[in-house]
Amino acid sequence: MSNGLVNGSYTPEHCNALFSVAILVAYKNRQSQLDIFLPYIHNFLRKQNIHYRLYVVEQQDNKTFNKGILYNVGAKTAMEDHFPCLILHDVDLLPLDDRNLYACANEPRHMSASIDKFRFMLPYDSLLGGVAALKSEQYVAINGYSNRFLGWGGEDDDFQRRLLPQKLNTIRFPIEMSRYTMLAHPQEHRNVDRFMIMRENLKEGYEKDGLSTLPFVSVRISHHPLFTLVGVQL
Ligand code: BGC
Repeated sequence: MSNGLVNGSYTPEHCNALFSVAILVAYKNRQSQLDIFLPYIHNFLRKQNIHYRLYVVEQQDNKTFNKGILYNVGAKTAMEDHFPCLILHDVDLLPLDDRNLYACANEPRHMSASIDKFRFMLPYDSLLGGVAALKSEQYVAINGYSNRFLGWGGEDDDFQRRLLPQKLNTIRFPIEMSRYTMLAHPQEHRNVDRFMIMRENLKEGYEKDGLSTLPFVSVRISHHPLFTLVGVQL
């Protein structure tokens, strides 16, 4: 293919890529955003000389969005494909600075610290939502995402809290490199149970809810020029 993309995977032709990265987009019913995100992110990433593959992990049912389950299924798929680094990416965020390298560091990295919607300021220090990069081995060590959060909010805060027991910190690039624009969309329905689930998980232990306890879901993988589609039915 002339643009070098096969099933959403790109390998630079003129050099040996230093980084091999799986980009996971948890997705449901946001076609107009996906249509903007896909060409934008490929044009952005191809300049970075990394080897990457874009996985769109789509919830294909009528149940409430469960981002955690989608990320866990996506992470499993990417690890089966031997990716050592995972980037968890909201579909509504577009990176604005080419220096924001899509790669993993030694510690998990919050990549979207500066978003126009928040007037380019970090809303709170422990935020890890939006776009985050971590090694696959770290994702396994923290037991991935919770499977319990439905709808909007809290699942990324729960994810961030999983780092501490594993002695992992969140790092960030300088704020001017971490700029993103957010595509407009109506506010999703907030999950009123989110604080309760966070408290319960902290108390019960993260080994009880996560990648290792992923419930049975039906998974269908199909290939498209701009992405590998991981279709999930809860
Ligand atoms: C929510 C997070 C969200 C953050 C930024 C928090 O209140 O719990 O899920 O990422 O706000 O919007």
